[in-house]
Amino acid sequence: MCGIIGVTGLSDPLAAVLEGLELLEYRGYDSAGIVGVEASGQALWRVRAAEHGGSIDRLRAEADGGPGPLRACLGHTRWATHGAPSEENAHPHLDCSGRVAVVHNGIIENHRELAAELDRSGHKRTSATDTEILAHLVEAEIDAGADLAEAVRRCLLVLRGDFAVALVHAAEPDLIVAARRTSPLVVGTTASAGVVASDVAAALSTTRQLYALEDDQVAEVAPGRLLVRDLEGRRVEPARIDVAWSVERALKGGYPDFMSKEIHEQPRAAADTLLGRVSPGGATEIEELGLDEEELRATRRVLLVGCGSSYHACLVARHALERWAAVPAEAEIASELRYREPVLAEGTLAIAVSQSGETVDSLHAMREARRRGARVLALTNVVDSVMAREADGVLYTRAGPEVGVASTKSHVAQLVMLEAFALHLARARGTLREGEPGRLAGELLGLAASIGRVLEREEDYLSLGRRFSASENFYYLGRRLGLPVAMEGALKLKELAYVRAEAYPAGEMKHGPISLIEPGAVVVVVATRTPLWEKVMANVEEMRARGATVLGVADEGDEETARLLDGVLVVPPTSELVSPVVCVVPLQCFAYAVARARGNDVDRPRNLAKVVTVE
Ligand code: G6P
Repeated sequence: MCGIIGVTGLSDPLAAVLEGLELLEYRGYDSAGIVGVEASGQALWRVRAAEHGGSIDRLRAEADGGPGPLRACLGHTRWATHGAPSEENAHPHLDCSGRVAVVHNGIIENHRELAAELDRSGHKRTSATDTEILAHLVEAEIDAGADLAEAVRRCLLVLRGDFAVALVHAAEPDLIVAARRTSPLVVGTTASAGVVASDVAAALSTTRQLYALEDDQVAEVAPGRLLVRDLEGRRVEPARIDVAWSVERALKGGYPDFMSKEIHEQPRAAADTLLGRVSPGGATEIEELGLDEEELRATRRVLLVGCGSSYHACLVARHALERWAAVPAEAEIASELRYREPVLAEGTLAIAVSQSGETVDSLHAMREARRRGARVLALTNVVDSVMAREADGVLYTRAGPEVGVASTKSHVAQLVMLEAFALHLARARGTLREGEPGRLAGELLGLAASIGRVLEREEDYLSLGRRFSASENFYYLGRRLGLPVAMEGALKLKELAYVRAEAYPAGEMKHGPISLIEPGAVVVVVATRTPLWEKVMANVEEMRARGATVLGVADEGDEETARLLDGVLVVPPTSELVSPVVCVVPLQCFAYAVARARGNDVDRPRNLAKVVTVE
């Protein structure tokens, strides 16, 4: 979703902003823009573009022929919420005088009432966005005598919602003012430069000395100056971020797109995530967990929350936690938990699962769980992300940067990490029989090789996908551990191929959806040899009897299942609890092939964002 980069100082801040925008691109965006204070300090130079996939190139072209030397510069990638994805709604937005500019990530919830007041007092708005409101509010405060930082602080007092903002003002040419509530923002300065960014990665080329703003803090960033104040205007010390890691700039490395590269990185993601945490004998150690054995033993209930593919990982983890650690476990969609007024009994451990560590619904669900007395863990792929910083402990996946909007390797790493945690909890609680920790550890550690074997069959999955690329109605069915796999498979197809794909518990089909089955329908079923295999196959017969074509994920060497299906996605046999890690991969490849055959951009599917920072 929206990304923010601001650079001040340096010989060419515009070049640094363009580079930052490229690093923010992966979040998903539909338009982009840049503003810079002209060196004269009299005016702002602004350029915006709304061309799917090509906006940053347009900005670069304009910048090449464009402005003279600039001082403070802001760049923004936008994912439309209020107002269509058009050039006039793209950020940065200006006030009436054209001397104040703002970029924004998030939503200003009370924008309608604020807009009405501004309209009454004669401000002229030129876009349909909530963001532009802030430019005009700041303008009014500056007209009343405030400087930029003070104006922003005063405006924050009247804004409702979750947001991160950065602003420049032509009268203070080297200054960027940044502020946040919920949405992340980092700031940093050196003697000759200053930077603000929504992602650490985008800020690193300016400085590694970065600080994370807390909620309702306002920062003044200029070369040699970093001043942070709270809403009362008191100076506060910002929290330093330890950037020990180097940011790899993700490259396709010979693959046609990031998604296929990331699918192939899954064995590595699984192996790296388990490294040093699960050992072959069954010992487990999770370094950043923040809970000792006694605290783990005191866990009475686990509540898992997430969105999208991360929610599907929660659904899998629930089974492992209940079966291995004998602890009641539930999984819930983060955006639902928050408004449900959940009763969290003492001893509840909440685990918020989020690749980005930034998804606003998951962050709010985590905060809500804590407010109601739960201990909270964040399971994330991004070191020092907002959720990682706020949680009591962290379960880091080690999938490396994921660029494709549809989650693949980070989902697999989540599954593996959650199962490693279930094993860790089970050991602490003493709920496993003798020899079981070693056996389960062996299964987990074998997963990387199993995914490798799955990928050797990639061409089979792709050709099956191509064969069904013209179909319009898919139903994904599974039972028990097969159900979250079916849900994830259907999600991948929807996201990438823009095809209707309904996921359903196989046994529930006859309570309604079966009436939709007719010749032409394609059913994809998870049909590996679990104790429920016979029941699943009975459900398959019900589909076939009504004319559906049935494809299925089936175990290698299982001729009987292959005979009962119209097409198979073969996987090496694994035990049921770890099987989702292996079974989901052919479904990713299948969806990928359908999408490619339909000519879709698999890395940047329409309407989707990698990081969802609005409710
Ligand atoms: C977006 C992405 C999905 C992702 C979901 C949750 O919808 O497109 O791929 O699963 O957000 O993201 P998170 O970063 O919280 O895992």
